[in-house]
Amino acid sequence: MCGIVGYLGNGNAYDVLIKGLHRLEYRGYDSAGIALVAPDGKLNVFKAKGKVENLETICNDKDTDASVGIAHTRWATHGEPSDCNAHPHYSEDGNLALVHNGTIENYKLLKDALEEHGCKFHSETDTEVLVQLIEYIKINNKCSLLEAVREALHQVVGAYAIAVVEKNDPDTIIAARQSSPLVIGIGDDETFLASDASPFVEYTKDAVYLNDGEIAVIKRNEPLKVLNLENRESKIDVKTLEMSISQLEKGGYPSFMLKEIFEQPTTLRECIRGRVVENGKRVIISGVRDHKEKFLNAKRIVIVACGTSWHAALIGKYLIQEMCHIAVEVEYASEFRYSNPVLGKDDIVIALSQSGETADTLAAVKIARSMGAFVFGISNAVGSSIPRETDSGAYIHVGPEIGVASTKAFTGQVMVLTMIAMAIADLRGTLTADEIAGLGKVILEMPELVEHVLKLNDKIERLSLIYTYARNFLYLGRGYNYPVALEGALKLKEISYIHAEGYPAAEMKHGPIALIDAEMPSVIVAPRDHLYEKIVSNVQQVKARGGSIIAIVTEGDSVIRNIADHVLEVPEVPECLSPIITSIPLQLLSYYIAINKGKDVDMPRNLAKSVTVE
Ligand code: AGP
Ligand code: GLU
Repeated sequence: MCGIVGYLGNGNAYDVLIKGLHRLEYRGYDSAGIALVAPDGKLNVFKAKGKVENLETICNDKDTDASVGIAHTRWATHGEPSDCNAHPHYSEDGNLALVHNGTIENYKLLKDALEEHGCKFHSETDTEVLVQLIEYIKINNKCSLLEAVREALHQVVGAYAIAVVEKNDPDTIIAARQSSPLVIGIGDDETFLASDASPFVEYTKDAVYLNDGEIAVIKRNEPLKVLNLENRESKIDVKTLEMSISQLEKGGYPSFMLKEIFEQPTTLRECIRGRVVENGKRVIISGVRDHKEKFLNAKRIVIVACGTSWHAALIGKYLIQEMCHIAVEVEYASEFRYSNPVLGKDDIVIALSQSGETADTLAAVKIARSMGAFVFGISNAVGSSIPRETDSGAYIHVGPEIGVASTKAFTGQVMVLTMIAMAIADLRGTLTADEIAGLGKVILEMPELVEHVLKLNDKIERLSLIYTYARNFLYLGRGYNYPVALEGALKLKEISYIHAEGYPAAEMKHGPIALIDAEMPSVIVAPRDHLYEKIVSNVQQVKARGGSIIAIVTEGDSVIRNIADHVLEVPEVPECLSPIITSIPLQLLSYYIAINKGKDVDMPRNLAKSVTVE
């Protein structure tokens, strides 16, 4: 949600910042803007509504010569997407420019106070308050930019990652964070800052993740300095980035989403590597192994997540309850935090988040920890906030996911949850060694099985043509495949803007069945499992009412084949592993329907990849 980039060095700031904005565009694309401090001390600010390419067009005939600057790609929270509301925002006297990711909750109060002192506001954003306040303090207290930022941040309530530059000072950037991500890249004679490391990974692998309540002072020819709001200097902890540039490029695919769907055999292999060992006989999740007692004594597990991660969490519930016999509750992180949760030291809270930055999930983590629960984070982004705020955890290791619609992260999350459930079951003795070895063997085969499922691509592309103009879809599944139905419906909604509902198949007869007619296709996830006979009845019920059916079935299925209009056959795997297999045809179906409709699958309207605001 909003991408921030900053650069100070000897290179061309404009080029670094624009390229960086493209890398961060998945975080928001309502508008883009850039502020450059020219060598003569002039502060040049350019902004444009829409994507970064619009900003580039505007900048074509402008003076963009500078070696320091900040830039922003926006996901609007306060004020519509427009040129005027685009960041950077500047102070009334044009002396400061600031970019911001987050929300300032007391902005109205601060704005009223500043207006009383004669400040004029030009945008509808909460952000503008921040830059006006900093400038007001700077003038009135006759202090440095750093002092003014520090003082202003004491007055602000909310979430922010900010970067500020000052006219006449091409040698300084001040940045700060509270609940929104910010990472600094340390190069040779150049320093970068960004919402995640993707804008600077090609220039340096040395990164410093800013913590909440910290201010970074980036100065030319001086080492990075990090202070807290009380002006105490923090120790600089430089981490080495694992990311590579090829992971951030489309690699010959027309979109990141398609690349990420097709990457799944590889990403699953990465996810499993070193965890399912000895030919599948042993499962090692160090975050579980190192906290054995917690998992042995756990009375209850609560999984908190949002969106696609919440769907993976639902699968996690089935996995853990089946394998470990521990009661599991799955909560939307956004609801959990306001539901007066009752937690204690015998509870384990699992926070599941691809980005590791989702504000609601992060808030849930903080609440759970404050109540004494043991918090385990599952994330994809190394160094992101959730892994840093939890007691233990596991990365899914599927590489950066750039497409806004989550695909490879979902299958990676389900795989990690499966391995965690097996590791806990091993500890508690709720699965036998033979059962673990049996599952472990199939897990090692999963990358090839997924490869096989991807061969359905052409068939699904042809099938998508029949359904591109349907206005509503129903997705049905049972047991482990009920969350898959929810996920299939979400994928379709997100990228094709077709209304879709996911339901447990048996719930259909309690209401949604009224919707079924020839205009309403149903996608039914029906592999051969212990609920197969039941779902065959559900398929019959849809057919009897004239609905058309696309069914995901196990290879060789002969019953549903005779009822459904189209079947997509997937290989047989143990029931608990089936979501990883059955979700892939649904990813492809939503992808091709969206492409047929001419939609931008990587950057669907109104969405942003990582939701760092409430
Ligand atoms: C997935 O396709 C979505 N764009 C969205 O629902 C996402 O899963 C959700 O915002 C949670 O993100 P996280 O996993 O990074 O916490
Ligand atoms: N609140 C700011 C705005 O609306 C920043 C939004 C964000 O970080 O998503 O412009």
